[in-house]
Amino acid sequence: MQTTLLGSLSNDDNNELDPQLWAGSFNGKESSLHQLAPYVGKLKSGMVRVLICKYTKPGDTVLDPFCGSGVVPLECILTGRHAVANDLSPYAYVVTRGKLSAPRSKAEALRRATMLSGEAEARSKYMDLTIVPDWVRRFFHPNTLSEILAAVEILKEWEDDFLLACLLGILHHVRPGFLSYPASHLTPYLRTRKYPPEQFPAMYAYRDLRSRLLAKVARAYRRSLFSDTMNTVRWQVFQRNAMSLPLESESIDAVISSPPYFGALDYARDNRLRLWFLGVSSWKELDRALTANDSVYLPQMNACLSEMFRVLKRGGRCVLVLGDVERNGKSRPTAEIISELALEATGGQLQTKGIWTDEVPDIRRSRRATKTTKYERIVYMEKA
Ligand SMILES: C[S@@+](CC[C@H](N)C(=O)[O-])C[C@H]1O[C@@H](n2cnc3c(N)ncnc32)[C@H](O)[C@@H]1O
Repeated sequence: MQTTLLGSLSNDDNNELDPQLWAGSFNGKESSLHQLAPYVGKLKSGMVRVLICKYTKPGDTVLDPFCGSGVVPLECILTGRHAVANDLSPYAYVVTRGKLSAPRSKAEALRRATMLSGEAEARSKYMDLTIVPDWVRRFFHPNTLSEILAAVEILKEWEDDFLLACLLGILHHVRPGFLSYPASHLTPYLRTRKYPPEQFPAMYAYRDLRSRLLAKVARAYRRSLFSDTMNTVRWQVFQRNAMSLPLESESIDAVISSPPYFGALDYARDNRLRLWFLGVSSWKELDRALTANDSVYLPQMNACLSEMFRVLKRGGRCVLVLGDVERNGKSRPTAEIISELALEATGGQLQTKGIWTDEVPDIRRSRRATKTTKYERIVYMEKA
């Protein structure tokens, strides 16, 4: 983390934001827990850290109603803020809970992973693969699949979202440390054409869960950045539609979030294989329920903004990271649209005080280069 810059950055009355504060790569500086599992549309942890330090203070309660992979809530608890997170996707829910509930010591995490491996190996013999749809079976050696199914079953019984998130994080990739046959990492596509089984038989052999899971857990603790302040913070994660949150009115000091884009990303489709193991058999239905497609975006975002307004304390701050979207040659200035919508939804009470552009391209957030711009817009609003 850029400690010199961030050290001088604190919650103050000057609300101007300088995107240069998070320029450069944060890989190798951020908490390794940020890499627990992939997520399309994930925010840069460096930007999130700057927003948290600039717009909140230690002890504040910060809400992210669209938490995705949990970058905002994790940065909150690492910096002594209470975190309230929410996302309608069960995958986002598990990954976020996984990060926040990670055992505070590597030894404890490894102990649990070892215990899980033993139990999953024993239970795998009884798994019925005939209930697994073909499109899922195609990704795995049958013995590996049996171990994954057994492990998922056990982790649901144990309510252990940390290990479940680790498991989902190693579900598919081309690398040997992952469980699937060669496949892409972010979204599940088999790479059989590039790696034909006849030429690469080792890539289609049984892959044991134990060694891969233990290695994954060890990687998660390479630089966890846990500190004593974490013992004093509280966190909660919900899996609800952000249009209606189970929170008291005026209970939140600040909202920091990146809402879905106008029809730009398919959060459920991109995670369909991981979601299947979480019991979501129809990713299409989930994608339809998420606020992204054109016909529902504006009315649903209107409802989400009034909900954020309701739970915010008076004078509370709301910082939204948005991307402009291009469709059919037309560009939609999402930041300006959301600012207008916030005024409309709250009778002029949630007012935009500034909009900044992050000029640093981030390929992780713009997979569909034709649809989204590579620039983030940051909208800063206050509740009157
Ligand atoms: C841009 S992503 C958030 C990414 C996140 N900030 C991160 O760094 O990983 C937007 C999220 O909004 C969620 N979402 C979309 N519509 C929703 C709704 N109506 N209620 C709750 N979550 C929703 C999606 O599942 C997705 O995870």
